[in-house]
Amino acid sequence: MDHFHYKNGVYHAEDVPLDRLAQDIGTPFYCYSTATLTRHYQVFSGHFPGAKICYAVKANGNLAILKTLAKLGSGADVVSEGEIRLALAAGVRAQDIVFSGVGKTAGEMAFALEKDIFQFNVESLPELELLSEVAIARKTKARIAVRVNPDVDPKTHAKIATGHKASKFGIGMDQAMAVYKRAAQLKGITVQGVSVHIGSQLTHLEPFAQAFARVRAFVGELRAQEIAIATLDLGGGLGIPYGKEELPLPDAYADIVRRETAGLNCQLIFEPGRVLAGNAGILVTRVVYVKENEGRFFVIVDAGMNDLIRPALYEAYHGIVPVIAPTGDAPTELVDVVGPVCETGDIFAEQRLLKVPKAGDLLAFRSAGAYGASMSSTYNARPLVAEVMVNGSQRAVVRRRQTYEELLARDQLPQWL
Ligand code: LLP
Repeated sequence: MDHFHYKNGVYHAEDVPLDRLAQDIGTPFYCYSTATLTRHYQVFSGHFPGAKICYAVKANGNLAILKTLAKLGSGADVVSEGEIRLALAAGVRAQDIVFSGVGKTAGEMAFALEKDIFQFNVESLPELELLSEVAIARKTKARIAVRVNPDVDPKTHAKIATGHKASKFGIGMDQAMAVYKRAAQLKGITVQGVSVHIGSQLTHLEPFAQAFARVRAFVGELRAQEIAIATLDLGGGLGIPYGKEELPLPDAYADIVRRETAGLNCQLIFEPGRVLAGNAGILVTRVVYVKENEGRFFVIVDAGMNDLIRPALYEAYHGIVPVIAPTGDAPTELVDVVGPVCETGDIFAEQRLLKVPKAGDLLAFRSAGAYGASMSSTYNARPLVAEVMVNGSQRAVVRRRQTYEELLARDQLPQWL
């Protein structure tokens, strides 16, 4: 459920009419709903009393999103020093931060140790050795979990699947025991848990069940070797509806978690990203032209793949709704909704049945709260778009639209020019 809806024929974010917002701040812009984000956090966390919910910052690292979640008690799953800084700046406590990622540098490790974060999720033996050295140099110990790769097929898009053997993520179950034994010998390391994350936008629950069952068995093997396991980080990955499809609800996911972790006596950690932020945001764009070419209709909008790359990169579906509800007699056609970027792949929707909009009309791309703004770029020298958050009838710009001066100021000329 989300709080984007029509009121008197105008699409609203909570109590804020989006046509007014577009008039005031220009297009394109992202718009986030506090009520939706809050509801998603409460539903998810409500299933796991006592667990650490570490929101995956990569989904949307805007400070206003992070602070809204931090105030509800959320921790953070981070993958870079930048994300640690964002989480801390938003008021997330260091003891609620877990650090994932296959390429942590010594500098990032030192920074995380200085801040005393809760846990490093280690993804390789060389990373483990380096982390120990960095910790020893700082006269401290790093608390770790090893991210295991349970080799299950998460049945999701190939570019966001992580839990199968061929992926770069985690350590295969057959090698993981040796890594734990090595970790137990290292002076800079304290072993505290196991972590797993098998992919994103999972729309079936069986892969979770398979992965968690394998991890459960592995915790038993570790304990049999007298390796103490106190935390179990089950990652993120729960999918969301992008259209009208039925998806497993958090309570069905929670049943599986409860079944597979019963009696393990571990502190549970989760790293949800999309399920919290995805449907809490939309991208509002204006139609620049409608063009007909060889019998095909193109709706050309002012947002591009640089602003929302998911359709181009993953063939992802995003619902598209008009901000002003069209009247009944507007013609319906199969149209391509495309951006202005000079790439054939700059397509938001191909052959989508829509009431054909006119130049100047506003459209909203739904489900753009996760991996929307956070993956945007300035490709084609297009400034990063504004981001707005609403809360009831209140609204605030939470990231200014980048100016052309800011865009140009990043480059410097060499002295010979
Ligand atoms: N934990 C780890 C270690 C991750 O790698 C990820 C996502 C998450 C948690 C959060 O997963 P979520 O709950 O959001 O599914 N850009 C892609 C998704 C990439 C996901 C990367 N890792 C997309 O737009 O679909």
